[in-house]
Amino acid sequence: MSKTVSLLLVGCAACLLIAVSAVSFVAGASTTPTDTVELKLGHSLDQTHPVHLAMEFMKERLAEKSSGTMILEIRPNGQLGAETECVSLVQRGVLGMTKVSAAPLENFVPDMAVFGIPYLFEDEEHFWRVLHSQLGRELLEAGAEKGLRGLCYYDAGARSFYTISQPVMKPEDLQGLSIRVQESPTSIAMIEALGGSPTPVDFGELYTALQQAVVDGAENNPPSFYTNRHFEVCKHLSLDEHTRTPDVLIISERWWQRLTPQQQQWLTEAAEESAEYERELWKEKTQEALAGAKERGVTIHQPDLEPFRQSTSEMVKSYAGTSTGDLIEKIQAMGGEQ
Ligand code: GCU
Repeated sequence: MSKTVSLLLVGCAACLLIAVSAVSFVAGASTTPTDTVELKLGHSLDQTHPVHLAMEFMKERLAEKSSGTMILEIRPNGQLGAETECVSLVQRGVLGMTKVSAAPLENFVPDMAVFGIPYLFEDEEHFWRVLHSQLGRELLEAGAEKGLRGLCYYDAGARSFYTISQPVMKPEDLQGLSIRVQESPTSIAMIEALGGSPTPVDFGELYTALQQAVVDGAENNPPSFYTNRHFEVCKHLSLDEHTRTPDVLIISERWWQRLTPQQQQWLTEAAEESAEYERELWKEKTQEALAGAKERGVTIHQPDLEPFRQSTSEMVKSYAGTSTGDLIEKIQAMGGEQ
């Protein structure tokens, strides 16, 4: 008889349920190849977002590979909590999987801070060269000892500023503006270096924060700006492309260790296939987002990047002598024509 290893997490408020699932998890034995494994994956993005679509693709691939014995339940739109909450639930094994931006991951895996350093990557090619290198792989796996095993990176393009009323054409334009940031010390430091006031807000609450003018603007990639309808409030998108911060797919190390080698392999393959699929989809959806925003009254600006680069160039100094500082140097060395 096959048993079902399931995680009954309904929501963060459902403490009793969380406690029950945690107990059954601790008490449960490792799975066998005939067991049905149900993994729940919580994330913050909309169902039309390319990263969500890629995870749906992963779900299908996993079901095919495992002949229906590995089931992924994807809960979008922050239904299971904001990104930092989801990471913390995954770390404790209460939630099986999550997909978060590398920015809030910095609170758990400090070296993820490299992805918050403005203009560290010269271009998209440099970025992917690093992600696909030994260094990128090690960074993805660095969380395992903290209970957070990275399975793949998803493209999350380049992040740029968008504002309600006045465009950001140079760093001085950020003065006096409250800019929403992710829960990440490096993101806060970046806005400060540029002269703005950083305001951490959960992604799920950002639309309302913009609508009520609690913040004057935010920064993100075009698909997130578009699929979360922030264009309805922010009419200026300035493509300064300050950071390339990937999304990261994570499984709880506790859950991972309970899977058989075969199940681990199916999941690894399905995740990698979804990452490849997503990279293609990303390009298409970015163009769609820019065109769609424009049609809906957004002005897209192309500011000179040099002043932004200069204003943030000192940020790397604060990492001197740390492992993050070493990583930054290695990443810089991987730039240029290769
Ligand atoms: C990106 C990323 C999300 C994240 C969001 C944010 O869209 O894909 O995972 O929540 O940025 O700015 O919070």
